[in-house]
This record gives sequence, structure tokens and C-alpha cells, in this order.
Amino acid sequence: MSVKEFKTPVSEKTVLIGPDSGTDNIIFAIESSCDETAAAIVKNGREVLSNVVASQIKTHIEFGGVVPEVAAREHLEAINLVISQAFEQSGLKPENITAFAATVGPGLVGSLLVGMNAGKALAIAHDKPFIGVNHLNAHVCANYLNTDLKPPFVALLISGGHTQIIEVKSFLEQKIIGETIDDAIGEAYDKVARLIDLPYPGGVNLDKLAQTGNPNAYKLPEAKLQNEFDFSFSGLKTASLQLIQRLKKENEELPKADIAASFQENVTSTLFKKTKKAADNINAKTIALAGGVAANSEIRKKFFNLKDKGYKIYAPEMKYCTDNASMIASSAYFLANTTGSLDVEVFSRM
Ligand code: KG4
Ligand code: ZN
Repeated sequence: MSVKEFKTPVSEKTVLIGPDSGTDNIIFAIESSCDETAAAIVKNGREVLSNVVASQIKTHIEFGGVVPEVAAREHLEAINLVISQAFEQSGLKPENITAFAATVGPGLVGSLLVGMNAGKALAIAHDKPFIGVNHLNAHVCANYLNTDLKPPFVALLISGGHTQIIEVKSFLEQKIIGETIDDAIGEAYDKVARLIDLPYPGGVNLDKLAQTGNPNAYKLPEAKLQNEFDFSFSGLKTASLQLIQRLKKENEELPKADIAASFQENVTSTLFKKTKKAADNINAKTIALAGGVAANSEIRKKFFNLKDKGYKIYAPEMKYCTDNASMIASSAYFLANTTGSLDVEVFSRM
């Protein structure tokens, strides 16, 4: 059964949350783990009633990346406005909300504290349960938004901090089949983007440039690992650096588009090959992409091509791939890795 009992903080009333709760659950969620301040209201884990995101990209461009102290201060400045806009967009009032949720980790501690404390304050002020949500699990749940996806399926979670192939056995049970042993895929994208002087945020800019280059221009290495479903991107990063240094010596103008396209081809083929094999191994015909890098054009293309071969492929709409609060609300409803207590603390890593 997918249902859990939560208590309201003041009167300690019991509230049932989850697909088997027998009532409509309207969840107000906050996300602030990195560089987006976001709030959203979602009905029954799937129907988005409002979705507000304040991005800090403009501020971080100046520094070429996210500076934690700056991020935390920006969250503090944006949070109240984002919360009131989420209510406004939905036309709902706090009394219509079943529970308040917020990301509690993994992420930047100072940033997480802003969102989590706002969530707890709303829960206390309106006497509704507070639900602490795991950010990684929420990325997978982004696939439930506006769809009818149900487990079992295989998820490829690719973000700035994580790279995992996950067997989602039920709404509550997940098993990691493979993961990165060093850098996350998003990190590799951002680092290589910096090597060819692309502005922050690196991943999406590298993706755009890659679409104009030759993916077979340069051969880059693929790591061989003990568990064939694990990933390693640190060797690729070094090989990219060496290639760029050599090309800088040999050319007046660095062939950036070809470098970007060759890098993109290398990583997307690895992600595709391993995930498909992992799915085939357990006879799974449904694959869901999740995390910021799931917005990547080449990754989507490679996986969506599988639709002709009898696979069902899910990928969140672009705005639900990168950090947002709708996925946090969905995760609070579907319950995996949630904590229902005001004592929950933020955490930076898994
Ligand atoms: O999931 P996310 O928004 O934040 C984390 O939880 O990490 O993912 C951010 C990562 C960044 O590394 C960003 O460069 C990458 O996702 N990203 C992309 C694309 N859009 C975002 N990487 C490659 N291609 C894209 N189109
Ligand atoms: Zn994320």
C-alpha cells in the first residue's frame, strides 16, 4: 500500500498522504537545494496547479558558477515572492493545502535551510503536516507529472551531482543498478564547457554548440569498469583537456563545435548503451530519464528512437528536468524517501 500517516504540528491531527490515501492530496512544495528558488502546488502527485521558479543564473554568470553564500542570500531574497506567486497562480489558499513539503537534501546546506525553514514555518502557521523530500528521488518523480507512468521501470538519473541507473520496482522501492564512481555527468559537461570558454551554465550551452559540430571529429576514451553499469567521467575529462591543449597548439582557432559534438557523442552513447542493457537485463520495457541533463537534446534523441522498438520512453518536460518544486510535491505524494517530522535536518550528501 502506498499511504503514510503524517501528523499536523499544532493539533497533532492525523493526515493520510499517498496514492492509497483515499482522498485528494494537494501538496505545496519548495525547492532551494542549488541555484533555483522554486515553489509549486501539485494535486495527487501528477496535476500541476502552479509552478514558479526564480533562477539565479544571472547572478552566477558573473562568477562562472554557483557560490554557496551568494546562492543562500539569493534564496532568502526570492523565497517569499515565489511562495506567494505559487498560491496566486493556483487560485488556492493555505487552507486548501493538504501538506507542505520541501527539499531537505542533498544540496548546498545554506540554500536548503532557507527552503526547508520556509516550508516548516508554513506547516506550523497553517497546522498542516511538513514533509521533507529527497532531491534525487524527486527528479525521478518529475516523470509522474502530467503522465500516467507507474512502476516498474528503469530510471536514468543524470544531474549536476549524480549519475545513476535505478530500478524503480514500486512507488516505494528502488534499487541502484549502477552509478558514477567519480564525477557526475552534469559536472563533466560543466567542466568541459569551461575548458572551451562557454559561459555558465555550461551543460546547456555545450549542448547547443554540439548540435553545430561533427560528432565523429575526435575519438575520446570510454572507461572500462568492474560493474558494467557503473560510470566514470574523470578520465574523459582529462582526455578532453589534453585534446584541447593539443588543438590549441595546432590551430589558430579552436574547433569548439567539433570538440563539443565529440564529447557529447561520447557521453550520450555511454549513457544510452548502459541504460538500455540494464533495462534489457531485467526485461524492463519502460525507461524514464530524470535530472537536469535529461534536458539534453542528444540524450533525448537517442532514447526516443527506442520508441520504434517496443520501448516506452518517458522524459519530463524541459521545465521539469532541471530543478523545480513540482517534482518535490510529486515526490512528497509518492512517499519514497520522505520524512514527516519537524525535527528533520538538511543534509549535503547522500
Ligand atoms: O538537476 P539539475 O538542475 O541540478 C542538480 O540537481 O544537479 O542539473 C543541473 C545540471 C548541470 O550540470 C547542467 O549543466 C546540466 O544539468 N544540464 C545539461 C543540460 N541542461 C542542464 N547538461 C547537458 N545538456 C543540457 N541540455
Ligand atoms: Zn537537481
